[in-house]
Amino acid sequence: MIAAFPALADQLHAVEQAMAAALASREQRVAGLIEDLGPFHGKLLRPSLCLLVAATMGAVDERHHALGAALELIHTATLVHDDLIDDADTRRGRPTAHTRHGNTTAILLGDFMYTRAFSLVAELGELELVKRLCAATNTVCEGELHQQMAARDADLSEDEYRRIIYGKTAALTELAAYFGAMAGSEAQRRSAAAFGRDLGMAFQIADDCLDVAGDAQKVGKTLATDLERGRVTLPLIRILAGASPSERPDVERLLLHPSGRDQVEAARTLIIQRGGVASALGTARELVAAAKTHLNRLPESPARAQLAELADFVVARDF
Ligand code: IPE
Ligand code: IPE
Ligand code: MG
Ligand code: MG
Repeated sequence: MIAAFPALADQLHAVEQAMAAALASREQRVAGLIEDLGPFHGKLLRPSLCLLVAATMGAVDERHHALGAALELIHTATLVHDDLIDDADTRRGRPTAHTRHGNTTAILLGDFMYTRAFSLVAELGELELVKRLCAATNTVCEGELHQQMAARDADLSEDEYRRIIYGKTAALTELAAYFGAMAGSEAQRRSAAAFGRDLGMAFQIADDCLDVAGDAQKVGKTLATDLERGRVTLPLIRILAGASPSERPDVERLLLHPSGRDQVEAARTLIIQRGGVASALGTARELVAAAKTHLNRLPESPARAQLAELADFVVARDF
């Protein structure tokens, strides 16, 4: 839970309860696995977005708790799979599901979470909501596939990188904000979605910076996995673009094909020292500024001020 928003604590508690209820199993062994995973200690960004947007319209109800829970379950499922793909040991300060229970269980657990999330929203009985959740989840999967197919491509353009991070991250934050604005006008729904989209883009760029320059203890997850997997993220794109023709082959080799711990460390140092992280964070801040312009169409309220704070948090954070 984001400590900066104690006002949301009760609402987020209801979301966590909805998540726990959605994951219940009558099968003792399955229930045991879920229990063993313990409570989820993520930042709950996606439900927070949904609830704060709804609060600007004074329209928070139990549907938002269910939608927030579904969004967080989908997000958590992507992380269970992502940690397996990345071979990451730590997530939210705890050992990852695949390190504790093996790869097969982690794959099946992710599938279980995805499908329970769909059921949760289907229970609300509104086809429109289910359609939107399916479409956004599919976009996330497409974004992850896209990222995988673009790995180690030294010519990846910034435009294509943006399409990847829209798919893997911003499509879901866009939907979170849209869900929050359901009770509003068409213009308000569109503005809320645009806010969620720009915020999600900034959030992923900041996350890509944390992968290079973060403190693993504070972030609570295994870092440098993007470097190890040859992901061409914005800090790397900026360094590649700035490399002279003579040094470019060496820079490409180090950034996209680092072999072993020492080279990953050397890649991190190079990216930081040459300003790749600072430059990417500059772009993330621009996206936050763009996100905030969309807030003008939402009713002025304490919740709207908190959304602006949330946008600032996304790039200022070190976790
Ligand atoms: C991590 O998301 C994965 C990305 C989309 C960058 P979060 O940073 O929101 O993860 P939790 O839920 O707080 O652990
Ligand atoms: C993958 O993104 C998670 C999704 C957005 C689907 P990352 O690989 O950047 O997430 P972390 O850094 O492991 O949390
Ligand atoms: Mg990862
Ligand atoms: Mg990351």
